[in-house]
Amino acid sequence: MARVDNEVIHKQLNWRYACKKFDPTKKIRENDWNILVESLRLSASSYGLQPWKFILVQDPAIRAQLLPWAWGQTPVTDSSHFIVFTYKEKMDEPHIEKHIHQMAATLGIDIANLDKYKNVMVNDLLKSPRFDTISWWAQRQTYIAMGSLLTTAALMEIDTLPMEGLNPAEFDKVLGLEGTGWRTIAAVACGYRAADDKYQKNKKVRFPVDEILEIR
Ligand SMILES: Cc1cc2nc3c(=O)[nH]c(=O)nc-3n(C[C@H](O)[C@H](O)[C@H](O)COP(=O)(O)O)c2cc1C
Repeated sequence: MARVDNEVIHKQLNWRYACKKFDPTKKIRENDWNILVESLRLSASSYGLQPWKFILVQDPAIRAQLLPWAWGQTPVTDSSHFIVFTYKEKMDEPHIEKHIHQMAATLGIDIANLDKYKNVMVNDLLKSPRFDTISWWAQRQTYIAMGSLLTTAALMEIDTLPMEGLNPAEFDKVLGLEGTGWRTIAAVACGYRAADDKYQKNKKVRFPVDEILEIR
């Protein structure tokens, strides 16, 4: 299969913008949605630990409850698919064990041979000073998945709005996350832009390459 042309990639990176107004009548087809899910699932994460869960909120009643806690931003209710990004607040040994079991099963490795790798993860993440800020670590991983989703969607001409303009604690309440160990960090609305969303005509406001890329 031929690789995607640079021109196509560049065009789509420019095509993407933070869509502020979605066309509520346009829905993402199931096979396209499945690829977006794969962009989340196949995302890279530190040690491959995937300390995330993505909650697809399709129930209009739940979306209406979330709306006031997201600054009233209409993509919450008008987008085709609304994904809440949650992270595992405190990485723990059971999660690491689960990952080790998955590795053994997927790669056909004897679990005993993964003991050293498991200990590296436990010592580095759970038994070092890193544990004091482990929830920040999990949040960072979750944002990698978000980036992957945004770029994949752009390649598919599916619009997105990444959203930090929300109250995570109130989202947790609405979604029943309190006490589960999973916490909201952000959301992404996905779907198709409204024809009159004026933001789609905005030029990209970006620093020049020589200011953001240092070569040594
Ligand atoms: C993590 C993240 C959170 C954001 N939160 C919001 C938001 O809550 N509401 C909004 O209108 N835009 C939000 N944005 C969009 C940014 O303002 C936008 O990406 C930036 O201005 C660059 O514009 P562009 O994406 O259209 O190129 C967010 C972007 C990111 C990456």
